[in-house]
Amino acid sequence: MKSIASAPGKIILFGEHFIVYGGRAILCSIDRHITVESELTDTGKIEIRSDLGQATILRDDPMDRVDQVLRPIAFVAQRMLREFNSGSGMRVVVTAGFPAGVGLGSSSACCVAAAGSISGLFTQYTKEEILKIAIDAERTIFENTSGADCSVCTFGGIIEYHRHGEINRIDADAMLQFVVANSKMTHSTSEVVSRVRRYKENNPAIFSLLCRQEESLIEDALDAIRQNDLRGVGQKMSQNQKFLEQIGVSNETLDSMVSLASRTAYGSKITGAGDGGCTISLVDEANIGSTVMALGANYECFATKIDTVGLRQKKE
Ligand code: MEV
Repeated sequence: MKSIASAPGKIILFGEHFIVYGGRAILCSIDRHITVESELTDTGKIEIRSDLGQATILRDDPMDRVDQVLRPIAFVAQRMLREFNSGSGMRVVVTAGFPAGVGLGSSSACCVAAAGSISGLFTQYTKEEILKIAIDAERTIFENTSGADCSVCTFGGIIEYHRHGEINRIDADAMLQFVVANSKMTHSTSEVVSRVRRYKENNPAIFSLLCRQEESLIEDALDAIRQNDLRGVGQKMSQNQKFLEQIGVSNETLDSMVSLASRTAYGSKITGAGDGGCTISLVDEANIGSTVMALGANYECFATKIDTVGLRQKKE
C-alpha cells in the first residue's frame, strides 16, 4: 500500500519576518504542490528520494548524519516508525511542482506532505495533528520558524496566522490572483531570519516602530481583502515592501522586479524571507497579461491562484 499526500506551496501577503517577533501574518497557499509517496518495505532501512538528493538511513541514526534538505523527511519517518513500534523499512519519494529555496514554501510543503504521507501508513491523523508533526520536522532545519508557512500549507486558502499559533481562515469573495516572479537567487530562510534579528538588536526603536506600523497595515489589509478592494490590497502590499526594504531583506534585483511589476499590477512585494527568492504581484484579468509580459521578458514567472484545500491524502 502506498500512502500519498500533497501540500501546496505558499506566498506571504503581509507580515513575513515581523511575525517571528509576535503579531500576525497573512498568507495564502498557491496552486503548485509538493507530493510525497511512502510505502513500507522489508529492508529495515529508510530510503528517501527527491529532486534535491537521496539518502538511506536507519531508524535510530542521529539527525546530524542526514543532509539538511532531507532531514525533515528523515525525522518524520523515524518518529512514525518509533511511535508505531514498527521494525519495517520505508521508501519515501518526493516530487516537487515548484522550485525550492525561493520563498514559495517548498520546505514547509514538503514537511506537511511528508507528515501526511508517512503517518498515513500507520493511522489517520487530523490536519491539526499533522501540522504539529510538520512544524517539529521543520524545526530540524529552522529552529525559530514561526509555524506560519506549515500552517497555510496544511489548511490552504487565505489565513491570518498569529505568532502563538492561532489560525483564522479569511473568507474573501475575491479570487485573488498573483504573478510570481523568480529572481533565481536562492536563500537560506534561517540565515535571513538571523540577519533580521541582528538588525532588530542594533535598531530596537526603529524595529519596534516598524512592528507597530506592520500591525496597523495588516488591519487595513484585512478590511481591503474582505471588501474585495484589489487596489487597496495592492497598495498595502507595496507599503509592506517598503518595510521589508528597511529591514534589509530586499536587494537591487528584487527592488527592480517590484518596480517593474508595479507599473501594471495592483501591488508587488517580496514573498517570504527575501534576500533572493520570489516577488508576488497582485493582478486580475485586466492586468495579468501585461504584468506577465513585463516580468517575463527578464525573469521566470507564472500566474497563480489560491489553493483552497491544503493538504490532500490518499492511499493506493
Ligand atoms: C519565511 O517564509 C517567513 C519568515 O517570516 C520566517 C517564519 O515566519 O518562520 C521569514
